[in-house]
Amino acid sequence: VTVVPPPLSAKNVDSFAYPTMKDRIPVIISRIVDNLTRNRDKIIKDYPGEDSLTELKVIIGAMSQLRYEVMTNKPAAPLRDGRSDSFAWNTELKKETEKAGEEPKWFDSAWLWMECYMYRRVCESVFMSNCLKDLDVFEEQKQAAFTNSYKAISSLTMYLMEILSEQELTPLGSMTKNYFLDFLQLSLWGNKCDLSISAGNENHQEHNPIEQLAKLKPFILIDQTEDVFQILCSAWERLGGQPGQVDIVLDNAGFELVTDLCLAEFLVSTGLASKICFHVKAMPWFVSDVTERDFMWTLKQMSAMNHLAISRFSQKWKSYLQDGKWSLRVNDYWTMPNDYNQMKELFPNLYSDLSSTDFILFKGDLNYRKLVGDLQWDPTTDFSVALRDFKPTPLCVLRTLKSDVVVGLNPGQAEDVKKIDGNWMINGEWAVISVQSVDRS
Ligand code: F6P
Ligand code: MG
Repeated sequence: VTVVPPPLSAKNVDSFAYPTMKDRIPVIISRIVDNLTRNRDKIIKDYPGEDSLTELKVIIGAMSQLRYEVMTNKPAAPLRDGRSDSFAWNTELKKETEKAGEEPKWFDSAWLWMECYMYRRVCESVFMSNCLKDLDVFEEQKQAAFTNSYKAISSLTMYLMEILSEQELTPLGSMTKNYFLDFLQLSLWGNKCDLSISAGNENHQEHNPIEQLAKLKPFILIDQTEDVFQILCSAWERLGGQPGQVDIVLDNAGFELVTDLCLAEFLVSTGLASKICFHVKAMPWFVSDVTERDFMWTLKQMSAMNHLAISRFSQKWKSYLQDGKWSLRVNDYWTMPNDYNQMKELFPNLYSDLSSTDFILFKGDLNYRKLVGDLQWDPTTDFSVALRDFKPTPLCVLRTLKSDVVVGLNPGQAEDVKKIDGNWMINGEWAVISVQSVDRS
């Protein structure tokens, strides 16, 4: 029987949860206030209506209130916006309250729960307005991160174009495998670029991503890329010489999204996957996470760029979305506070959807935390043990470490890395590619 450890929490002042609550979250909220104040005229123009200005002021007021609640450790209050997910949220709040004998609090309760609640409260203030209900308070930051990564996006798409046009890539061939490993790692390192780790400060891709790969290799603590390729090959065999469907649970917009799209392009054009299904957030989340609007905005921006590879791929990707080779799915579960072990019980339809695909790729730190429950696991725990009952289909997570939870390391490995880099668990410099194979035959 597995003994399940307690969740990470800001009550442990030595964990990253504590500075997150104390400093990072208040800064993220202040930045929202700054952005809304600075972009007042643009917002009112984009969302016209008699009450736009008043509503904007109400949102700004709600942000200050939220910041105060975090800093003074006030109990979590039920959501009031009546959005379809608010009932499920308030039920979770009740459950947490019953479990602890009091309402969850910022510095006392589970970090994952409180942090998700914070972003949901930001959305609540927007959803409660009329004219501004579609406003994305992080939009400007996300768009700037994309625009500032132009050079890296250029090198990446040119590299992809070159490979796809010059090489004879057979689906299961060794050359395909080598390039596949590259694109998987590019997508992994794309995860360095999230905007919440820097509390919303500029964080774009500076270097040529392809040249970086060899240099970054030693920072991959667990590398199960070979297993990923094997899973795709087994799907091919199981389906009688046809590629399977791959689902990608996306993380951040900007450069990371482009690396994911390039990986998806590589998979479909080499015949490693028949279809790709992208899962996006239903609302603005953890500053930089991709919503449907960000996804479509990115393709539109790319088509308008005067750059052969960038514009050509974006045209191709739009046509994939039209002919169904690629699809986008939005589900509220990705913006709930629950971990993935609870999905089967709470959102059985999503769980069964995910069980019918051939392979799922989870991107990023938050997905990792939700996969392993954000629990204080011993780092040598098996990934498969930490997943508990979440085993819908073979899956892989590509994640740079930005929170103090990791599993699947060898004995002594955590201690050794710590000697090299004291901040290895939270600075986004180190990474894991962890795989769970599920027998589907
Ligand atoms: O703040 C919590 C956290 O998980 C961080 O540790 C990380 O900065 C961020 O959220 C999200 O990272 P990612 O975009 O990789 O999920
Ligand atoms: Mg993110």
